[in-house]
Amino acid sequence: MSEQQAKARLLIAEDEANLRLVLQKELQRLGYRVHAAPDGEAALRKLEESNVDVMLCDINMPRMDGMELLRRVHERPNPPEVIMLTGHATVETAIEAMKLGAYDYLTKPYRITELDALVKQAAEKRALRVDNQRLRAQLERQSPMPEIVSVSEQMSEAVRLIERVAPSDTSVLITGESGTGKELVAHALHRLSNRSDASFIDLNCAAFQETLLESELFGYEAGAFSGAKARKLGLIELADRGTLFLDEITELPTQLQAKLLRAIETRTFFRVGGVRKVEVNVRIVAATNRNLDEVVGIGQFRSDLLYRVNGFEIHLTPLRERREDIEPLAHHILKQLCSANPPELTPEVLNALRTYSWPGNVRQLRNCLERAVLLANDGRITTKELPPEVTQSGAPFIPVIAAARPADSADAQAGEGAPASLREVERQQILAALEQTGWHRAKAAEILGISPSTLYRRLRDYNLDRRG
Ligand SMILES: Nc1ncnc2c1ncn2[C@@H]1O[C@H](COP(=O)(O)OP(=O)(O)OP(=O)(O)O)[C@@H](O)[C@H]1O
Ligand SMILES: [Mg+2]
Repeated sequence: MSEQQAKARLLIAEDEANLRLVLQKELQRLGYRVHAAPDGEAALRKLEESNVDVMLCDINMPRMDGMELLRRVHERPNPPEVIMLTGHATVETAIEAMKLGAYDYLTKPYRITELDALVKQAAEKRALRVDNQRLRAQLERQSPMPEIVSVSEQMSEAVRLIERVAPSDTSVLITGESGTGKELVAHALHRLSNRSDASFIDLNCAAFQETLLESELFGYEAGAFSGAKARKLGLIELADRGTLFLDEITELPTQLQAKLLRAIETRTFFRVGGVRKVEVNVRIVAATNRNLDEVVGIGQFRSDLLYRVNGFEIHLTPLRERREDIEPLAHHILKQLCSANPPELTPEVLNALRTYSWPGNVRQLRNCLERAVLLANDGRITTKELPPEVTQSGAPFIPVIAAARPADSADAQAGEGAPASLREVERQQILAALEQTGWHRAKAAEILGISPSTLYRRLRDYNLDRRG
């Protein structure tokens, strides 16, 4: 039995207690993970709580019989395969069940080896079906293993750590200034893990208001609040068996921090408005560009959650402290931008790129090259195509929105004699970019040269929404 099959999760719906127990014991002995329920209703409840691959279903049961259970199961998203277990008298019904989408049926009495063979096939079918869905979803979202340029000692060390920690289930915290490659590293961790067949789900904790964030993360039940017409699965559930990437984790509101901590510790959670626990198996990868000890110090972040998410830390050094990476990164990015024949960089350009301080790190380098590619003539990028701040070394450009500046230092700066209107200037710039893009946040962030997450945080800081 392959490892995958051995781990298949079964649910037995059988009202006869002895039979149920024997079946459960035997199947567990064969390496399956087995839940059991004495009737149809109980079985449905179990299905809510756990991701079941194959359900074994008796036909005659009190409360809700096997046929009704089968119907109800098939109304669910991503149902398990169902094998009907039936006495002689109900063979007709079993055939009816096949028409309703059951995988197969077995007539009592059957031998456990027979059942085992059937369960194996059904589990395989479900695994294929689930894989198919995932592949389809991933094809749209996922490129091959992301390439990480790592010429510098610091980045090669980071890559070594990534390779070492990826295959384990340890949670990983990625720290580093904005644009240093945290999201890229999170993807790499997933792709190099044993979970790479399952989903990589990312959630930007700064992107939503608290209540929205909660239902994004944990999902909700129909009727949990007005407007909740049907159940919605949360991201944590979609990441089952995969990786959940919590970007900007320090922005998670305190209440949700407590809920997340409980979910990580117990590997179960409640949907919003739900009364039953749901099991999940996710690997947590988190990222932040803030100093976590500081954030814990001012009471914005729970130290016990920090301890949980920080099973292992990978720190990404600012680009200005690993200048050996700049040139290879530039070539790498140019190849990505124009695969056919990337433009050449003149020696002056290379020099300017190497000496500039890159406060927005690799993302800023990328933006800079994107612009240069558009402006370049004759397949050559010269200093004319670089933004002035990059070529005028010695007079470092300080962007109005310093991408790496922690959100809470804006006031502090204003108090230290910076123009009192600094925040206002920043607000105006953000508004202008949003207007220009019809409030398309990702595009606006690009124009501003900051990451979408920084923009989300600013929108929240300034309390900006479309009505402005
Ligand atoms: N070492 C690297 N090799 C190749 N590409 C890189 C590297 N580091 C960063 N990049 C690229 O730079 C861009 C910014 O990286 P990414 O989005 O991962 O940064 P981040 O740390 O998550 O930023 P933020 O904190 O602002 O969200 C991406 O296009 C990414 O692919
Ligand atoms: Mg990021």
